[in-house]
Amino acid sequence: MIERIAQLMQEISALQAKNAQEAEALRIKYLSKKGEISQLMNDFRSVPPELKKEVGMKINQLKSLALEKINALKDSAGESSASGIGTIDLTRTPYPITLGSRHPLTIVKNEIVDIFSRLGFTLAEGPEVEDDWHVYSSLNFADDHPARDMQDTFFVESHPDIILRSHTSSVQSRVMEKTQPPIRILCPGRVYRNEAVSARAHCFFHQIEGLYVDKNVSFTDLKQVLLLFAQELFGPETKIRLRPSYFPFTEPSAEMDVSCTICGGKGCSMCKGSGWLEILGCGMVDPAVLEANGIDSSIYTGYAFGMGIERITNLKYQVKDLRMFSENDVRFLDEFTSAR
Ligand code: PHE
Repeated sequence: MIERIAQLMQEISALQAKNAQEAEALRIKYLSKKGEISQLMNDFRSVPPELKKEVGMKINQLKSLALEKINALKDSAGESSASGIGTIDLTRTPYPITLGSRHPLTIVKNEIVDIFSRLGFTLAEGPEVEDDWHVYSSLNFADDHPARDMQDTFFVESHPDIILRSHTSSVQSRVMEKTQPPIRILCPGRVYRNEAVSARAHCFFHQIEGLYVDKNVSFTDLKQVLLLFAQELFGPETKIRLRPSYFPFTEPSAEMDVSCTICGGKGCSMCKGSGWLEILGCGMVDPAVLEANGIDSSIYTGYAFGMGIERITNLKYQVKDLRMFSENDVRFLDEFTSAR
């Protein structure tokens, strides 16, 4: 018996396994109920009492050696098979891999950027935490203009000069102050306004701004570019109309409507029966703004336009509640997987 134990000790110390199956086969051979070691335990009954202590200790040693050795073999076999192709079951039904999708606002922003980049507009960005000069003063806002009011503007730590930008027009000013015309830029970005959050208003949203400054830029250019933009975005049947409006930084200013994307202009609940939907503000850059930003207004003229990306996304996809854009509910986001 003692000899048999010594022999098994040697045998087990020298065990090898190429993979997890072989290691399992060794476990069955030595450690299972009918394995070699259990066999020894059965035979232990017939060991004469004076030898029982010695033999018992040896069997225990043998058993722990076998456990340790076979577990080690299993571990190393597991590791090597995880990296090797041998144990991967290539016939198994694959789990579908769900890809993420772009956020609807990104989809629409990219589409707008795409249209204008074909017309030679390049991207420009500016900070969201801005100073009063770039958001208001350089853009011809009077000191007592209501938009500067705390009801509209977020101030940073009650510092009267540092604010969260309330429109992307601040990027116009940042680009003009360091570049001479021709300037042809598109500025997408997040803006902040002090509004109570509801289905129709949010304290932050996204705008995209366009600016073109060069010699001989006229309102006709603006109108033609906007018509092309509307038809690219909403379809070739789309009509536009410009209504006179007011912005401190443009003169003349206008608001642009497109023919209703749902009824095509006949009148429906979407356009409240008017056949038109307002989508952006625009105008010729006020000469005072050019001058404030270091551009000679006797040589150059320019146009600018700005629109809300949420608004356009709502028109394209009929999103009823603005809050859905920032709640990150995957059921909502998943609906845009097939969009561009
Ligand atoms: N900045 C304006 C707004 O926030 C939009 C606009 C941009 C109007 C450029 C005219 C020219 O409403």
